Amino acid sequence: MERQIKETRDKIILKIKNAKKIQEIEKVKIESLGRKGELTLLLRKLGSLSKEDRPIIGKLLHQYKKEIENTIQKVTTELSNLEKEKKLKNDVVDISLLGKRRDRGTTHPIQLVLKEIEDIFLSFGFNIEEGPDVELDYYNFEALNIPKDHPARDDQDSFFINNEILLRTHTSPVEIRVMERQQPPIRIIATGKCYRRDSTDSTHSPMFHQIEGLAVDKNITFGDLKGILTVFVQKMFGKDRKVRFRPGFFPFTEPSAEVDVSCLLCKGKGCRSCGYTGWLEIMGAGLTDPSVFAKVGYDSEKYSGFAFGMGAERIAMLKYGINDIRLFFENDLRFLKQF
Ligand code: PHE
Repeated sequence: MERQIKETRDKIILKIKNAKKIQEIEKVKIESLGRKGELTLLLRKLGSLSKEDRPIIGKLLHQYKKEIENTIQKVTTELSNLEKEKKLKNDVVDISLLGKRRDRGTTHPIQLVLKEIEDIFLSFGFNIEEGPDVELDYYNFEALNIPKDHPARDDQDSFFINNEILLRTHTSPVEIRVMERQQPPIRIIATGKCYRRDSTDSTHSPMFHQIEGLAVDKNITFGDLKGILTVFVQKMFGKDRKVRFRPGFFPFTEPSAEVDVSCLLCKGKGCRSCGYTGWLEIMGAGLTDPSVFAKVGYDSEKYSGFAFGMGAERIAMLKYGINDIRLFFENDLRFLKQF
């Protein structure tokens, strides 16, 4: 009987040692130590043995059981280590491989232009100010001497939220806000979004950006305005650019002017892009109207000022040779990545 038990034990141990996978060991474990396992059945038979044999066989069976359990434990650990090693080998990371390239954003051309203009005026000693996109009628029109029957005050031309509030149609309201809280001397520029109920075409968009400028001090003249804008245009578009001031009209400046720059394409000779005039209009400007000073409580006998306003999209179109304003708002990466 002892031999038969030893053979069973040897057979089981061999099976365990030959196992190639952890699942195989599981199977042997059930076959030997499970409820109907070979060793379990032998242990159950102990009771039917003689008094003399029982302790001897019992001790042997328990010893074998322990041995089998230990072997299972050992081989299982070995196999699982092997599997881990194999996995590590297969999963090696090749650190010399090229990474995935992240798509990098670029600065939007309008932002580039705003930044460039801000930098030029900062170098002239101007400060940067801003005002709200959602504006009171008072700041957008009333304080700027824009009469009640002005077309911009019509529902058809501006985005009104209610009778008193609208989306600003220009950045000039920032002039009033700054003058209300500050005494001269003032030298500021303000950039931001403006809104008008224009139908979209190659030169119109219901939302666009403006750059506003304002200087108020003693003895400010039209000559100062001309000087500053001429230097600005040459910094922005090149030294060989000429600037022209044509009489114009704005309710909040007097006198007022439309400012032209010599055509960048034909250099003033006249071509299709400038309508054969040699000139391109880039902004409105003028000396601050005394009625505006009256609204903010400035003494127009003591102070004078100039103001100007230009469209960022128009400047960007001229600078980069873009012929359709809609390109700025379509988010086509092929367009945006060129800047
Ligand atoms: N606000 C004017 C416009 O939107 C431009 C302007 C600004 C004109 C300042 C004169 C002075 O057309």
